Formats: sequence, structure tokens, C-alpha cells
Amino acid sequence: MAGGVTTPLLVAAVSDAGGLGMLAAGYRTPERLAADLVHVRDLTTRPFGVNLFVPQRLDRAALGDEVEAFARRIAPEAADLGVRPGTVSWHDTDHWEAKVQLVETLAPPVVSCTFGVPDAGVVDRWRRVGCEVHVTVTSSVEARAAAEGGADVLVLQGQEAGGHRGTHDPGVDPEPVDHLGLLELVRPETDLPLVVAGGITTAGDVRRALSAGAAAVQVGTALLLAPESGAGRTYRAALRDPRLGERVLTRAFSGRVAGALATGWTRRYADAPAAFPVVDQLTRPLRRAAAEAGDTHRLHLWAGSGWRAAQERPAGEIVRELAG
Ligand SMILES: Cc1cc2nc3c(=O)[nH]c(=O)nc-3n(C[C@H](O)[C@H](O)[C@H](O)COP(=O)(O)O)c2cc1C
Repeated sequence: MAGGVTTPLLVAAVSDAGGLGMLAAGYRTPERLAADLVHVRDLTTRPFGVNLFVPQRLDRAALGDEVEAFARRIAPEAADLGVRPGTVSWHDTDHWEAKVQLVETLAPPVVSCTFGVPDAGVVDRWRRVGCEVHVTVTSSVEARAAAEGGADVLVLQGQEAGGHRGTHDPGVDPEPVDHLGLLELVRPETDLPLVVAGGITTAGDVRRALSAGAAAVQVGTALLLAPESGAGRTYRAALRDPRLGERVLTRAFSGRVAGALATGWTRRYADAPAAFPVVDQLTRPLRRAAAEAGDTHRLHLWAGSGWRAAQERPAGEIVRELAG
């Protein structure tokens, strides 16, 4: 879970409890990622993984005007918060090449990718140093592409998932299918182990997924309130706020479709351009200021459909309870 939620403590606590903790590389600098990876290794001897965003080429000619108009629209809200919209870059700001190299050098047991399938050459480099490669998919077409691209494991992410949908083409709307539906579609097509994700918060959810043929489950939202999570106080308060009772799939914060609690922002900017990560860059200063000010209505409140079941308990206890 990129964006500060994943901490080395959370990764280690999940792995120590018998899960596979995942260190989020997205938005982190390569230097910070390397330091966090070494930190996880200090904290646990159990296997863990690193998760990377696969970059997508953005068509500036097609999207530039829409992005500029969006920047003008949010400027008054930024002023309200005492900031300006962020500066955009149409180039890769997530340091993909450096992170690919870092994974190859530090060789974590698992590397997982979202937002696309890495080139065959990259998958090869990682596998040669002993990494198992997981790829997130949200449709059977993407599952086929990931299998053909050399993935060892597919992560089937349903529409109930919190945070960004891993859909490979950021311009298309993700398919409205839940994790069990996606499992039914993909299971007959491949022998690869399938991990399912989205809305899983109880041992019963886990049992249902395993008996439907999943090799494992992935959870995010269930861990958000754990003390080891880096979720900030405004985010934590929002997840427990009974007035925030609706969840939407929205591009409003980042330009990519994500599962989030409905707020004033998601209502006002439901038509944000499909331009990740430049929309993310524009809204970042506002979101940071909103988090500091306790303004839940301008903060990206990523949440899966089971957010009400998230518990403020140590991550290890949550993982053990899920495992039944
Ligand atoms: C706050 C948050 C951040 C996330 N960040 C990432 C990420 O960086 N990479 C990724 O592959 N998935 C990310 N996800 C999606 C999770 O990997 C997972 O698919 C999802 O949490 C499962 O659904 P659930 O939240 O209902 O358990 C994130 C989810 C949340 C809630």
C-alpha cells in the first residue's frame, strides 16, 4: 500500500504472522526504498515482497488541455488550503529503471507489479536472481497478458478493492467484477497460482476464496487501522466516521480509478481526466494540506468495500484471525 500506509513494521508484522508482507515501492524514491527494504530484512527473517507501479506512457498531446483545465478548476480549493496545485511532469517520476535495478540487486523473495506487465527482459532479470514475480490483473484479458509475460503468480483484484485498480490501460474503465467473479473467469484459463483481492476482511471471506480455487488472498483495507500502518490521523478518523457511509470508484484524486470513501471532492471531480500520475501530482499539495488540517473532504480516503470491518488491532492478530 503505497502513499505512506505500508511501513517496514507493517510488512514485518504481516510476514511474522505467516502472511506475505508487501513493501510498497510506488511514490518512494529508490534511496528510501532501499533503506526500507534493508529495514524489513532487519525486522523479519520471513519472506516478504516489494510492489512496483509499472509506468504507462501518457499522451500529453491528447490530455494536456484537459489536465490544464483541471488544474485551473482545483486552484481555488488549493488557495482555501493555503497551497497551490502541484507541478506536473509528463515523464516517469517514479524511477522505474532504478527500482527494477534495485530489486535485481537486493533480490527480495517476491516482486509484485501493478498497473501493467513489465517487459519480458525485466521479468527475466528478476527471476534470474531468484525473485518470484506476481502481476496484478483486473480482467481475463490482462490475466492472459500477464501469464504470457512470464508472471509466476497472478493477483486477481476485484472491484471491491481499496485504493487504485490495477487496470493495465489507465484510460479504460475497469471491469465491474468482484474477486470471486474474476476467479471464475480466469481459473479455467491458467494453471498459475491465483491470489484474489478485494473486500476480504473475515476468515469466512478467506475460506470462500480458497474453496473457490484461490491459492491465497490479498488484503489491504483490513490492515489500515493496525498500529503498524502508516495511515495518518485524518485518514484513520474518516475510516471510523459514521457520516462517511458510501464508497465510490473514482479518478478524482489521481486520474486512475480507485476505491475510496465518497466525499465532497469525489462528487465535485468525478470527471477528472484519466491522466495518472499527473492528476495525482496536481492534487498532492492539497491532499497533504487537507490531511494536516483534518479536512476529510479533500483527502483521498482509499477504502475497500469492507472498510467498516477494519480493526484497530496489531497486524499480526488480524492476519492470524483471517487465516482462521
Ligand atoms: C491505501 C491503499 C493503498 C494501496 N496501494 C497499492 C499499491 O501501492 N500497489 C498495489 O499493487 N496495490 C495497492 N493497493 C491495493 C491492494 O494491493 C489490494 O489489492 C487491495 O487493498 C485489496 O482490497 P481490500 O482493500 O478491500 O482488501 C492499495 C490499497 C489501499 C487500501
